[in-house]
Amino acid sequence: MGFWVLLSVILLVLQARSSIVGGKDAQKGSWPWIVYLLITDDRGFFSCGGSLLTEEWVLTAAHCVDPNDNPIPDNSFIRLGTHSLNEPSVFYRTISRIVSHPQYQKQRLAVLHDIALVKMSEKVSYSSLVKPMSLPKPSATFDSRSKCFVAGWGDVGNNGEYMANIPQTLQELELPIVKQSTCKKKFPGLTDNMLCAGSMKKGEDSCQGDSGGPLVCGSSGVLVQVGIVSFGKINGCALKGFPGVYTRVNPYMDFISETITSDRQASAEA
Ligand code: ARG
Repeated sequence: MGFWVLLSVILLVLQARSSIVGGKDAQKGSWPWIVYLLITDDRGFFSCGGSLLTEEWVLTAAHCVDPNDNPIPDNSFIRLGTHSLNEPSVFYRTISRIVSHPQYQKQRLAVLHDIALVKMSEKVSYSSLVKPMSLPKPSATFDSRSKCFVAGWGDVGNNGEYMANIPQTLQELELPIVKQSTCKKKFPGLTDNMLCAGSMKKGEDSCQGDSGGPLVCGSSGVLVQVGIVSFGKINGCALKGFPGVYTRVNPYMDFISETITSDRQASAEA
């Protein structure tokens, strides 16, 4: 009897410590560009991550705002400047526009062009807790030697169950980029517009609810966003030998800048 009580306490403590899966509590203010999305659609509501690009645009995964699921912009919320979900955020916004990549497609073996831009109902202003994310220079390359991190409020361990353990505090995990050829062996549907990241150790990965959030890497002293949390192995996160799959940001620079500038022109003409 005493043994089982002790074991449960140990397991609870381990669970409370573990995170994204296998990460740790982020320091308040260390991810000023990460945002929390609470999306309401035809099926209910669920959460995703995203990153702030400008005072009114957020970058996320297209599957988070899938047009087929009919997201309801007025009933969806973006929280900015958030550390713990229990504490008030600096800004709350609804959505005024969703622009998913025109070729976004969910397939059996992969999610293609899993990238979307979301325009907020009203601009935000920058401060120490709310800042825009930098995107990499087109020439920048990242590999297993890059120092990279992912963060989110997603599941801290799910054993295949959807959103079984949600943390309140933002979790972060340092993780390496995996060689493209290794990744391709794990995920046959992988394209060059995706990358794998993760230690492939059991118990370290992004997970459900982290989708849309940024994978960031150091590049000449600053952190830039290299990827977007997209998908993983179907039957669970953080399985031994399986990294997570991220949309590469670099191939989509034109999509991003054209969406933002054409919207600006449209609003100027209106
Ligand atoms: N698709 C998931 C989401 O909607 C993210 C899954 C990431 N999985 C992984 N094993 N890295 O939140």
